[in-house]
Amino acid sequence: MTERSLVLLKPDAVQRLLVGPLIGRFEARGLKIVGLKLVAVSRDLAERHYAVHRGKPFFGGLVAFITSSPLVAVALEGPNAVAVVRSMVGATRPNEAAPGTIRGDLALETAQNLVHASDAPETAAAELSMWFAPGELLAYDRDIDRWALAPED
Ligand code: CMP
Repeated sequence: MTERSLVLLKPDAVQRLLVGPLIGRFEARGLKIVGLKLVAVSRDLAERHYAVHRGKPFFGGLVAFITSSPLVAVALEGPNAVAVVRSMVGATRPNEAAPGTIRGDLALETAQNLVHASDAPETAAAELSMWFAPGELLAYDRDIDRWALAPED
């Protein structure tokens, strides 16, 4: 089923010059970019995005990190996009992330794990509306889709 997922290329990805390579991985997989922007994250948005972690010992550090430098928010669309993106990102703790995943190839620290990806379709919908205004998510056709996607997708 066609889904949309939110990916954040966190401040460490921007600072390490990995924005292009990371977006390239998702594009090469066949996922469609339907939203894309560089964001200076406010404390309010950071706290709303990570509300589920409020009260945990790392919450303050997490908010400080995500607001420390711009990040790139990406909305990706494709069949089973949420699960596909999660599998490409790898386990939260980079020491547990499989080689071939983004974190397994490029990260060492849980706090600096390069990317956030929605963990379920319901979370994705909530996160996408938090990070993008409705008019910033675009529906369009790609000519390559007849090669990359099955007709029913
Ligand atoms: P993310 O997928 O963005 O979702 C929650 C984030 O919290 C996670 O990636 C990590 O960056 C961060 N996180 C989770 N556990 C810890 C931890 N023990 N210490 C620091 N950061 C953490």
